[in-house]
Amino acid sequence: MRRPLLAGNWKMYKTLAEAEATASALKVRLKDVAGRDVVLCVPFLYVEAVGGLLLDSEIAVGAQNLFYEEKGAFTGEISGPMLKSVGCDYAIVGHSERRQYFRETNQDVNKKAKAALKAGLTPIVCVGETLQQREDGVTESIVTTQINESLEGLNKGDMLGTVIAYEPVWAIGTGRTATPEQAEEVQALIRNLLAHAFGKDVAEQVRILYGGSIKPENIYELMRQPDIDGGLVGGASLDADSFEKIVRFEDQRP
Ligand code: 13P
Repeated sequence: MRRPLLAGNWKMYKTLAEAEATASALKVRLKDVAGRDVVLCVPFLYVEAVGGLLLDSEIAVGAQNLFYEEKGAFTGEISGPMLKSVGCDYAIVGHSERRQYFRETNQDVNKKAKAALKAGLTPIVCVGETLQQREDGVTESIVTTQINESLEGLNKGDMLGTVIAYEPVWAIGTGRTATPEQAEEVQALIRNLLAHAFGKDVAEQVRILYGGSIKPENIYELMRQPDIDGGLVGGASLDADSFEKIVRFEDQRP
């Protein structure tokens, strides 16, 4: 079976002192946690400090983005090898906020996923439809294009080192979670697309996370779905108490 992965995305929140305090609290609270992977995707600026703090813990550290070139005259950008050199293990790629506010395309996402893999980072590749697209009935075709174009050219080994996150844009930060059935429907579609492109054997091993208004109150039912292998958690990951509860999803049975 696939090992659950619970990932926090802190977005552009917290000062360094706040980041260290939350990471330290989680390190203590999650000391005994087993049978799952946990990662905190923090602002670039805190990757080294938070990663150092979590060195001898059950929690890994990740970034929220990276640039696809290894080095060069790219003012303001951060590369995969740079992240790896400060202890980073994961990088979120193609988050809807980056697609929306920074005009990232599926082709950019594809280059970033490949750059992350080349640097030895696990990319968490995000896909998901907007409210308008859902209402227009084009969720399936939008997600299909996002998956196919974002993963173009990856081989089976690359795919096994990649995580997918389905984050419907209308559920992000809105308090409006997708129902477990709505999420499962798209996540099963994604697994079928992976089977088509990389073979059933690979598709069965890839972790597909759900993201969008995850809370301690809804994680249990989401995790019961066959194609939901974990969560990408925004707001509720900023607080140690609520993120601990989400990581311990089995205990949140309503
Ligand atoms: P929220 O959990 O705040 O809705 O954010 C989800 C998200 O965008 C995680 O990447």
